[in-house]
Amino acid sequence: MHGYYKTKMDKKEISVFNEQTLDLIADALREHGYIILPDSFNQMLLQDLQHRAQSLTPENWQQAGVGRHEEYQQNKAIRSDIIHWISPDNPIEEAFLICMENLRQGLNQRLFMGLFDYEGHFSIYAKGANYQKHLDALKGRSNRVLSQILYLNTDWQKADAGELILYSEDGAKPLQTTLPELGTLVLFLSDKFPHEVIKARRSRYSLTGWFRVNNSHSRKIDPAI
Ligand code: OGA
Ligand code: MN
Repeated sequence: MHGYYKTKMDKKEISVFNEQTLDLIADALREHGYIILPDSFNQMLLQDLQHRAQSLTPENWQQAGVGRHEEYQQNKAIRSDIIHWISPDNPIEEAFLICMENLRQGLNQRLFMGLFDYEGHFSIYAKGANYQKHLDALKGRSNRVLSQILYLNTDWQKADAGELILYSEDGAKPLQTTLPELGTLVLFLSDKFPHEVIKARRSRYSLTGWFRVNNSHSRKIDPAI
């Protein structure tokens, strides 16, 4: 791991979630199935993540798709963001993965969710891009259990739109509307909450990921990596 982050992590100067925050998150997930936390991370890591996403060149991005495996498709009417998968090869991305590992273990200890691993990507929604109302996991058909979204935009105004709207389980009632402001972290149960991204009036950065369970059995390796 990159020396700078290693030292900071050892000194706990980078926000690895403390016990109190983990309790707060676990209680909210148990009670409501979701939580929206403003100012969730250390400012330095947030800025590094923001710069990392902004400095990735076009060949590092791909058009996002929907569906798994043989159902995978790219459909810009449904979803028009571009993505870059997070990997431990980059020290800033690795620092974020370590935070997610800390969260994974903290939630498993508190909620016995059996979260097995995490995958995540940066997203850019260009001006006018959106993601129609969807569920991240269909019951029994996905190993994505807990969805995570971290926003990476400084000084996002209401007039910029681009809100995340989280809906009730039946999809009928908006529960929460969140502006994608730097440091806001959203966590929700992947198969319970339909959500959508409204078209933004400026480009919109986020880091989205999923904690997964392991559904492997003798004839099937899962999660498929
Ligand atoms: C997703 C998603 C929301 C956002 O990638 O599945 O719903 O606000 N993203 O970026
Ligand atoms: Mn989603």
